[in-house]
Amino acid sequence: MGNPVAHSKSPVIHDLFARQCGVSMGYQRIQVDIGGFDQAVSHFAAHDGAGLNITLPFKVEAWKLCRRDPNSLTARAELAEAVNTLKFYDEGSIQGDNTDGVGIARDIEHNLGLSLAHTRILVLGAGGAVRGVLGPLLECGPEQLHVVNRTAEKAVTLAHRFSQMGFDCISGGALDRISGQFDLIINGTAASLGGELPEIDAGCISSRTLAYDMMYSDEPTLFMKWALDKGADRAADGLGMLVEQAAESFRIWHGLEPDTAPVISYLKKS
Ligand code: ATR
Repeated sequence: MGNPVAHSKSPVIHDLFARQCGVSMGYQRIQVDIGGFDQAVSHFAAHDGAGLNITLPFKVEAWKLCRRDPNSLTARAELAEAVNTLKFYDEGSIQGDNTDGVGIARDIEHNLGLSLAHTRILVLGAGGAVRGVLGPLLECGPEQLHVVNRTAEKAVTLAHRFSQMGFDCISGGALDRISGQFDLIINGTAASLGGELPEIDAGCISSRTLAYDMMYSDEPTLFMKWALDKGADRAADGLGMLVEQAAESFRIWHGLEPDTAPVISYLKKS
């Protein structure tokens, strides 16, 4: 469920997973009107729906819906304050989870081969997309995770929230006040959507840097091109994250672990 949802690659991804695992299921895009989310979920559950993925702009509404019953949120969804996966149980209960953070961590560690333990990570942006991935990234044990945002207070508040939970390596600040170089720079701002670049100094890039854009598109994104031009070792978009978060949702619904590599290469070619 989302709005808009016509562009979503998720039905193709889940069809490929289902075929691979011998599961019979239907997965369709459901466009939901703004203001109609709770009703759409009730209608889906009442018609024997087994599970949902939730995308923009409803992830926070899905979290609020689950929050009504304190037992229905997983710890990582609670931390993210956003839900992208719902599972419905026969007795009428519901579970809300967030697989985005696991998705990005697996893509970076397994698919791109960068082990995050003891690395220096810079995260650009402090909106919903970033809040959803910080917990799992921090759990990988980086040496430092610095979050910066155009509106600096938002990054500072977000970092403070996570440091209070015991993650000592996190700090927050302004986009135009970054010091040092980073092994991994993640663009989690909405800047690319408007064809813009977050305004950061290229001094944070070294010849070892992996530049990662959480957005995906057919062409390398503006951020990826910029980072490579400034001397980054390599750049990736969020296609692998999309497939990995889908795989985690699939596991939640079916208890099966699909192989993501052939699905990622299929999507890259198509
Ligand atoms: P999302 O759910 O995609 O994260 P959001 O919660 O609205 O959406 O957050 C958008 C993020 O992109 C914010 O961090 C925003 O910065 P501000 O908090 O300062 O608004 C960031 N953003 C959007 N456009 C940007 C731009 N042109 N340059 C830098 N950051 C931008």
